Amino acid sequence: MAVQLRLDKFLADMGVGARSEVKQWIRKGRVKVNDSIVTKPEQKVSLEDMVCFDDTRISYQSVVYYMLHKPAGVVSATRDKVSRTVLDLISDRQRKDLFPVGRLDKDTEGLLLITNDGELAHQLLSPKKHVDKVYYAKVSGRVTEEDAKAFREGVRIEEDYCTLPAKLTILASDAISEIELTIQEGKFHQVKRMFEAVGKEVIYLKRLSMGSLVLDEKLKPGEYRELTKEEIVLLKSAR
Ligand code: URA
Repeated sequence: MAVQLRLDKFLADMGVGARSEVKQWIRKGRVKVNDSIVTKPEQKVSLEDMVCFDDTRISYQSVVYYMLHKPAGVVSATRDKVSRTVLDLISDRQRKDLFPVGRLDKDTEGLLLITNDGELAHQLLSPKKHVDKVYYAKVSGRVTEEDAKAFREGVRIEEDYCTLPAKLTILASDAISEIELTIQEGKFHQVKRMFEAVGKEVIYLKRLSMGSLVLDEKLKPGEYRELTKEEIVLLKSAR
């Protein structure tokens, strides 16, 4: 049987408005299902029904995927009492069940996947899956080949935890160094703590990619776009 859901939920899920607003609009006759006005918010509709709000068709997308260029200064959470969240950057009229896949620190920039696909999120975050995450960083102090060797072998970031082998590429080694680091884990403050373990401080951090998903250079910090079909297929096929 086709999936059915309440009309008010259908519209609220699609970000037309809050559930309470949507109920009122339905009662006022602003919503049509298959060309007939429906005034009962509880009426069941299927995902294939033609639902129009003020004569604009609203199609039901059950899963959505956004690539966000996270700027510094916002937290990777769905809500926060103090700070703006990454979801505050996604426009109001979007759906309400989104969450960020994993966390970047408040001061970290770069690629963040925002979705409502819990299964994909789980696959990407599962420590067993060893999904590559590539970071660009500016590091205070001269990063050396010894650091690269230490990262290849794993460094101790907790009393009883050594990191998995990571690939460090030195782009510039100077008073302030520039590097790219590929890790397969996502421990709290992992990149910063790895550099701390070799006596250095990360002063700027940006995530460039996660698995097959690469940050779109056209996105400025704070901007986002939907993933393309190809990006979604590639991400899912890497499971
Ligand atoms: N490692 C960190 O230290 N911070 C991040 O935000 C991501 C990885």
